[in-house]
Amino acid sequence: MVDPRTSVISHRLSGISRIIAVSSGKGGVGKSMVATALALSLAKEGCRVGLFDLDFTGPSTHIILGVPTNVQPKEDKGIIPPIVEGLEYMSLVFFVGDNPAPLRGADVSNALIELLSVTQWGELNFLVIDMPPGISDAVLDLVRLVERIEFLIVTTPSLLAFEVVKKQVALLCELKMPIIGIIENMKIDKSNMFEMAIEKLLLK
Ligand SMILES: Nc1ncnc2c1ncn2[C@@H]1O[C@H](COP(=O)(O)OP(=O)(O)O)[C@@H](O)[C@H]1O
Ligand SMILES: [Mg+2]
Repeated sequence: MVDPRTSVISHRLSGISRIIAVSSGKGGVGKSMVATALALSLAKEGCRVGLFDLDFTGPSTHIILGVPTNVQPKEDKGIIPPIVEGLEYMSLVFFVGDNPAPLRGADVSNALIELLSVTQWGELNFLVIDMPPGISDAVLDLVRLVERIEFLIVTTPSLLAFEVVKKQVALLCELKMPIIGIIENMKIDKSNMFEMAIEKLLLK
């Protein structure tokens, strides 16, 4: 069955030049931090940027940005994202609030489709999406629904993260999804740390 909302989604996203999905096979590697920092940095460079928190497992960019609790999107033939720190900002929290009830299965798909089809982004140079972790149905839905999506993968130097991310990259390659880069977040130069420790010890 063809969902009529999918063509609405293409129309809603038509004014956006590039759609960057910040994603990782693994949770807790810094997706939300990277997505928020990337969006803020692009805005600082003078670009028109939107930040879209679609991590239904734990939306967190509103915490990083300190979005005041009284901020709400306006309705006008759709939903207009509020401006937060110069970004057009939209998050699932506007709709589910701090409600601990998790979205599951078809509810997740429906919420994603609904949000994508009602949000009015207007003209943007970049839309940065904070993605749910893993290669869940929700991620596959987004791949299907958002044409022109490009992936920015986040990992950490940990073997545990790296091995999971490797599988995600293989899957995205199989799906012929463009990957613009892989960020190795929270990397600590251990050799440097060791030298610093030695220096400190010798100074004593
Ligand atoms: N480059 C970094 N340096 C220090 N702490 C970081 C860095 N990136 C992320 N963190 C911290 O790691 C934790 C997980 O980051 P988060 O962005 O919530 O990950 P994810 O969205 O992948 O679950 C948070 O406490 C965050 O503040
Ligand atoms: Mg997150």
